[in-house]
Amino acid sequence: MIARNPISGVGIGLRAEHYEYVKREKPTTPWFEVLIDNYLGHGGQIQQHLRDFSELYPLTFHGVGMSLGSCDPLNKNYLGLLKKAINTYQPALISDHLCWTGFQNEYVHDLLPMPYTEEAAQHVADRIIQAQDYLNTQILIENVSSYMQYRTSEMSEAEFVAYVCELADCHLLLDINNIYVSAFNHQFDAKEYLALMPENRIKEMHLAGYEEQGDYLLDTHGQTIHAPVWELYHEAIKRFGARPTLIEWDNDIPEFQVLQQEANKAEQILDRAQTHAA
Ligand SMILES: [Fe+2]
Repeated sequence: MIARNPISGVGIGLRAEHYEYVKREKPTTPWFEVLIDNYLGHGGQIQQHLRDFSELYPLTFHGVGMSLGSCDPLNKNYLGLLKKAINTYQPALISDHLCWTGFQNEYVHDLLPMPYTEEAAQHVADRIIQAQDYLNTQILIENVSSYMQYRTSEMSEAEFVAYVCELADCHLLLDINNIYVSAFNHQFDAKEYLALMPENRIKEMHLAGYEEQGDYLLDTHGQTIHAPVWELYHEAIKRFGARPTLIEWDNDIPEFQVLQQEANKAEQILDRAQTHAA
């Protein structure tokens, strides 16, 4: 499988609201993540943006379209478009989620969790292997935040995530905010979750802001990162060492500088970890 160019430091999720600013000011952001589904199958101006940014910065591709946990056949049309984009733009990382997003070709706009069973692990791992073989590259799968659990689950979420990575021989995108949100919603210990993660497979981390909804947390990506998520990120970096980290923001998108400030905070935590390791 193709080895991809490494990235490091703290990247920012590229959003249309910041296209002009980034092209004009060329901030020192070391890399950007693009939501690749927004570009697939489009020509013209949309494709031109992707081309422009790929010439300015290393990019990572992040998608929701693989629906790896679904029982539908893999969407070969989607994978074909993705493969073409990968070959054209050579992203540093390609990621999707450990979840399902539809059934019988009906797609929902939610990243739905899986039952944590042996059968589900084998099923999703088999599909990740198929996707990796087709794309001729390893992919990262991301742990999602959730608001429900299945009575049929046979293992914890952390055990399931680690087991699927092992079965599929894929990489892991550890979303620290998602761990915190799910830990709060389902009352498990986020640090124990971290302890079960396969260190060598973690190739990226995500940070984002949630919203408090009384007795549960909602993963809205619409606020600055909360203190307990910073604390958990610090813990993760202490445990695993520095990893490329992304600031995600999807709702009520602020000025680019606000994301830059969040990135600077994460960068300080990475720098401190590197100083201690030296
Ligand atoms: Fe994420």
